[in-house]
Amino acid sequence: MNDTQKNSSAQSALNKKDTSWSGRFNEPVAALVKKYTASISFDQRLAVFDIQGSLAHAQMLGAQKIISADDVRAIEVGLAEILQEVEAGQFEWLLDLEDVHLNIEKRLTDKIGDAGKRLHTGRSRNDQVATDVRLWLRATTDQLLLGLRKLQLSLLDLAETHFDTVMPGFTHLQVAQPVTFGHHLMAYVEMLKRDAERFGDARRRINRLPLGAAALAGTSYPIDREMVAKSLGFDDVCENSLDAVSDRDFAIEFTFAASLVMTHLSRLSEELILWSSPRFAFIDIADRFCTGSSIMPQKKNPDVPELVRGKTGRVYGNLTSLLTLMKGQPLAYNKDNQEDKEPLFDTADTLLVTLEIYADMMRGITVNKENMRQAASEGFATATDLADYLAKKGMPFRDAHEVVALAVRYAVDQKVELSDLSLATLQQFAPSIAEDVYTVLTLEGSLHSRDHIGGTAPAQVKAAIARARVAIK
Ligand code: ARG
Repeated sequence: MNDTQKNSSAQSALNKKDTSWSGRFNEPVAALVKKYTASISFDQRLAVFDIQGSLAHAQMLGAQKIISADDVRAIEVGLAEILQEVEAGQFEWLLDLEDVHLNIEKRLTDKIGDAGKRLHTGRSRNDQVATDVRLWLRATTDQLLLGLRKLQLSLLDLAETHFDTVMPGFTHLQVAQPVTFGHHLMAYVEMLKRDAERFGDARRRINRLPLGAAALAGTSYPIDREMVAKSLGFDDVCENSLDAVSDRDFAIEFTFAASLVMTHLSRLSEELILWSSPRFAFIDIADRFCTGSSIMPQKKNPDVPELVRGKTGRVYGNLTSLLTLMKGQPLAYNKDNQEDKEPLFDTADTLLVTLEIYADMMRGITVNKENMRQAASEGFATATDLADYLAKKGMPFRDAHEVVALAVRYAVDQKVELSDLSLATLQQFAPSIAEDVYTVLTLEGSLHSRDHIGGTAPAQVKAAIARARVAIK
């Protein structure tokens, strides 16, 4: 081939090129493969963040004189138009353009010509997508933190109403000791508090900038990564280019934090389901959260808590997907990572709506105080209090435990509660028992005696609620 022939075959290669990377290929990608490898059906959700990232990148390129000020201006105008199109739902996403990044870049180039083609200078889709996902996750984490807060407030309000409402506390789902319903609810407020801490902590590691890593090794342009980090609100830059484009540990952490929230809500859901069952009849869940049965007219089913319990499995599944996705990937970027998005989106969607519904559902709970109290007064819930009473009078606790066990057995045989036994009968078990034992055997006596931080005494519950309100304000 002479030089003219070479030039013209290069020209015809350029003309045939149908994607931003197809130059080196001899045949077009098979239609099914195109569909299989494209991510546009789901990653279009990142569009706003992709535009944000591109703007910051372009402005840095301009500031560093890598592209001209005119190019930066054209890019800004073009991206602003595209943002409007996206927000108005008018942007036409094309499968042929594979993903959100190439769709937006192509549209920009159609609008502003060569300036659009210069946007990708010193950048790769590898650091671009990692940046987009982090920006999206940061915003989502902030939304989730608000959702957690709303649910905590709703639980706090219910706990406040029931700071001294007596219910049986359970271990092994057997009546154990009396607690207040407020105290029980505050246990979940504590769990959610730690969940919020976990998201806050994960957010610190999410909030670092991958851009500048380019494909994997960095770039030969004189870029200013700190400038991009600052303009995108990142606390820091990812310090190793290979790591920046490849690891998704921040996404895994996020999903783990979400999984634990779902674990906690699944536990509460199980309790709501039990408590609203006519066997317990402790609470009533507002009708708007329940459905009926198409065959059994009497049914009112606690669908929302059941679904929360069920959706917990789905979020765990997402966590397992992401962990498995990352496992065994050699450095640096691999296409496997494209699979990070759907589990992440699904996790966020599931958790956001769950938190919102839950906050409202807890406000719609009515408590049947009589039934709760009745359940606490059956089942020897104050037996430990009697043992403590004897121990305080000098009997070693282990002996006191044995004495009370015998008294409980006797009461079971007589089909009565401990407080129904006469003083003379009680004294047959331990002569040191006196008239004041009956204050110990009452539910209120038991509750009020647990008067220390973390205890169930109503005064302590009130204090815990006040502290929590300050902490989450
Ligand atoms: N859609 C891709 C993803 O989500 C973008 C990065 C593509 N990079 C590449 N080298 N093919 O991961």
